[in-house]
Amino acid sequence: MKNKIVERREFLKSAAAGMGFFILPSGSLLGANAPSNKLNVAMIGTWGRADAHFGAISSENVVALCDVNEEHIAHAANKFPKAKTYIDWRKCLEQKDIDAVICCTPDHTHAFIANWAMNRDMHVYCEKPLGNTVEEARIVRAAYLKKRNKLATQTGTQRHAKPNFERVRELVRDGAIGELTDCYAWGDRQIRRKGYPAAQGDPPKHLHYDLWIGPSPFHPYNPEYFAGGPGMNCLSWNMYWDFGSGQVGDMGSHTIDLVWNAIDADLPTTAEGEGQEFNPEVTPVELHTSFDIPKNDWRGPVRVHWYQGGMMPRSPRGYVDLNKIGHGAMFKGTKGYVICDFDSRILIPFGDDADLTYHNRRSKDKIIPPLGHFQREWVDACKGDLKTHCDFDYGGSAIEMMLLGLVAYRVGKKLDYDPAAGRVKNSDEANALLSREYRPGWTLNG
Ligand SMILES: NC(=O)c1ccc[n+]([C@@H]2O[C@H](COP(=O)([O-])OP(=O)(O)OC[C@H]3O[C@@H](n4cnc5c(N)ncnc54)[C@H](O)[C@@H]3O)[C@@H](O)[C@H]2O)c1
Repeated sequence: MKNKIVERREFLKSAAAGMGFFILPSGSLLGANAPSNKLNVAMIGTWGRADAHFGAISSENVVALCDVNEEHIAHAANKFPKAKTYIDWRKCLEQKDIDAVICCTPDHTHAFIANWAMNRDMHVYCEKPLGNTVEEARIVRAAYLKKRNKLATQTGTQRHAKPNFERVRELVRDGAIGELTDCYAWGDRQIRRKGYPAAQGDPPKHLHYDLWIGPSPFHPYNPEYFAGGPGMNCLSWNMYWDFGSGQVGDMGSHTIDLVWNAIDADLPTTAEGEGQEFNPEVTPVELHTSFDIPKNDWRGPVRVHWYQGGMMPRSPRGYVDLNKIGHGAMFKGTKGYVICDFDSRILIPFGDDADLTYHNRRSKDKIIPPLGHFQREWVDACKGDLKTHCDFDYGGSAIEMMLLGLVAYRVGKKLDYDPAAGRVKNSDEANALLSREYRPGWTLNG
């Protein structure tokens, strides 16, 4: 998937330069930066994480702002005073002039908003994770794949723009550790809760609490859900099953991206999970999931592992304390290891014959080019060749695997997965957990 994107980009760049003209998408009349070629953007979720997007879209037309909290709408309306405002994203998406949507709402609404927007032919940037269940991830990905020739999408894993992601990919791809066999990613964030908070007080007037609950089963208001600072409030609700997937969808989305970017993976054929005792209200803190990923055209089959909450892979050498890497990844090959975090990496050749002669080091001109500004890549793609690094195919398959791991953990046995059908072959119980029920009146595919 990924290498094709890079190859195509490089081709487009050099072809356009060589021929002395710009390549424009069909339907685009002027160059991407021409004033009349601004995108009409809707922001759904206008505070918190939304702030991280204000810069990239300040040169576009922000035509709609939607939030269930009227004070949060006012926060964004200060910056984008011409936009129409909404409290219900379903009404917002009826606005006819919207080209593109940025979704920064809580996780349990992501798949809905992304899907409804794509159904209306709108480009979508959706904060991670793309869904709360395997089914949601699959539906979003499928909706994108049907329209990939006309829509640009980006999953909100902006750390992907860090150059270290590609340096890690190059080490693995160019054989620095021999044949790749195993990949590990982990995160140490631990937020412990016992269960949904009990009813407390009434929602303030400016908060439309029932819309905040949206498609999820109703839970009574408690100010605890809203106690976090901007961009951190997700840590007040994302551990509850009805609102998030805990660290799987939170830092897991970012950290598994280090692995996903390096291995050109397809969906897994098996999933296993272990961890702390199951709590029907709260997602696990301690968790280890693992998957069989089929071979592709440049590597054999690999095992992929995700660890969180203190569960960790073993370090290959005592002098490397993996616990000191809060969020990291490790790649094991027949001739060594690459260990990394988001910004740096180390290579440990392993064994008496690990002399690196097999490392097919690329020359400077073959280094994978920098992605640039992550949010801006999507804005430009909406107006250009539609290509982004973390489209909903890439981001959707990564989170589908991660969420399948949570199902395996809940069922407590090794699952045989049919990735084409999105069904578990050996457990009805697991199949029932691939999706969740929505409150009456909410449909995922509207
Ligand atoms: N990419 C990153 O590094 C990163 C960082 C932080 C958060 N996030 C993601 O961003 C999302 C938002 O996180 P946050 O901490 O800003 O959460 P938050 O609880 O502050 O919610 C963000 C905004 O969405 C609004 N909102 C809630 N429900 C809504 C609905 N149904 N329709 C419209 N608006 C609604 C809230 O009122 C708030 O203004 C999460 O999914 C989180 O995973 C990503």
